[in-house]
Amino acid sequence: MVTIGTPLSETATKVLLCGSGELGKEVAIELQRLGVEVIALDRYENAPAMQVAHRSYVLQMTDGAALREIIEKEQPDFIVPEIEAIATDTLAELEKSGINGKSVTVVPSARAVQLTMNREGIRRLAAEELKLKTSKYFFAETEDEVRAAAEKLGFPCLIKPIMSSSGKGQSVIKSEGQISEAFEKSQRDARGGGGNGSSKSMKVIVEEFIKFDYEITLLTVQSVSGTTFCNPIGHIQINGDYRESWQPQKMDPAALKRAQNIAGKITKALGGYGIFGVELFVKGKTVYFNEVSPRPHDTGMVTLISQDLSEFALHVRAFLGLPIPAENVKEKETKGKNKGKKAKSGFKVVKQTGPAASKAIFREGTSKKISYSGLEKALEEKDTQIRLFGKPEIKGERRLGVALAKGKNVKEARKKAEKVEKRVAVNFY
Ligand SMILES: Nc1ncnc2c1ncn2[C@@H]1O[C@H](COP(=O)(O)OP(=O)(O)OP(=O)(O)O)[C@@H](O)[C@H]1O
Ligand SMILES: [Mg+2]
Repeated sequence: MVTIGTPLSETATKVLLCGSGELGKEVAIELQRLGVEVIALDRYENAPAMQVAHRSYVLQMTDGAALREIIEKEQPDFIVPEIEAIATDTLAELEKSGINGKSVTVVPSARAVQLTMNREGIRRLAAEELKLKTSKYFFAETEDEVRAAAEKLGFPCLIKPIMSSSGKGQSVIKSEGQISEAFEKSQRDARGGGGNGSSKSMKVIVEEFIKFDYEITLLTVQSVSGTTFCNPIGHIQINGDYRESWQPQKMDPAALKRAQNIAGKITKALGGYGIFGVELFVKGKTVYFNEVSPRPHDTGMVTLISQDLSEFALHVRAFLGLPIPAENVKEKETKGKNKGKKAKSGFKVVKQTGPAASKAIFREGTSKKISYSGLEKALEEKDTQIRLFGKPEIKGERRLGVALAKGKNVKEARKKAEKVEKRVAVNFY
């Protein structure tokens, strides 16, 4: 039985958000709607989710001792990580031991959070244990090992620090002459790497470059209702950051079935209740597993307009132990004597209200005085929305908001979202 208490009282159901960015902010809003007490953490003050939480703390979340102190003080029922860079071992220890006799759940599970914070953990689980199709890869610790890996994979190939996100430290290596520079970058920009004052060698993954037709995020929810999928989300990435996403991404039915199979297997192996963003590359009918976030995915912001229950609402409902009712979809058979006829695929899909798109509002500058205008014009068309994240500062390039639109088809929705994004003027003083 699920019971939700009253915030700021003895009965409160408490959630500790580790990470207070724009995705955490939407999670906090969904929790607030259900009367859950929200405590937000991040490394800087007034981060987006802190602005809608009951209270907040500023700390380095990679500092296990500091994190433990807050968790022991707050005694949350759930710990919800929003980013990878967290002392996940501390979370796992606390989940195991409980806090003063009270149990705490790491969402979706401590195992999922630990395995996905490191490319080696998730890649070995996916490719070596579950035998899912991935790009060919080698792990390397020295430039010579990278050279040997690149020789076997051929060019172009990719190098990524095993600990990094948003494309940091990542390069496409096009020829042998680029190996040294790419390796140096991976060492400098890895989480905990040379750029942070460390001289220790950071392990990297060297990967075959997949010339995919398109890439998708398959949002997959594990809940008391079982495993449920959202319609596939197509997206465009530039320098490791998503710029544009749309839903549904048109897919060959056989490829979609494969994608759902892969997503079902990897999320089951990670375990726990919540939403997962399963990243896949599709080439014809071949589907490659790339990586998975055990939490809402930035490309999934499109669900803020495309679904009755956004990825954030789904995450919250799932980890609180509430049901996710979904449709059992029928799809056309692609072969056999029933070819062309519709049959139940066996996969449950969250309802989408129409074709939709999102376009991230990225701007570059240096300022602590930011304002937004042009909004009347930006929002004049029907079925358009924006989210402004309320980030207190910009230094370099930063995602400050997102434009959302629905249309009669994906093409129209993308055009509308792009128009909204362009019309939002960001002013720095
Ligand atoms: N093996 C590959 N072949 C072709 N393209 C790739 C490959 N690996 C990654 N990419 C491209 O680079 C993008 C970022 O890679 P990946 O998701 O592995 O890194 P990341 O730093 O975790 O990114 P993010 O945190 O934004 O998800 C992918 O979405 C894809 O567009
Ligand atoms: Mg990724």
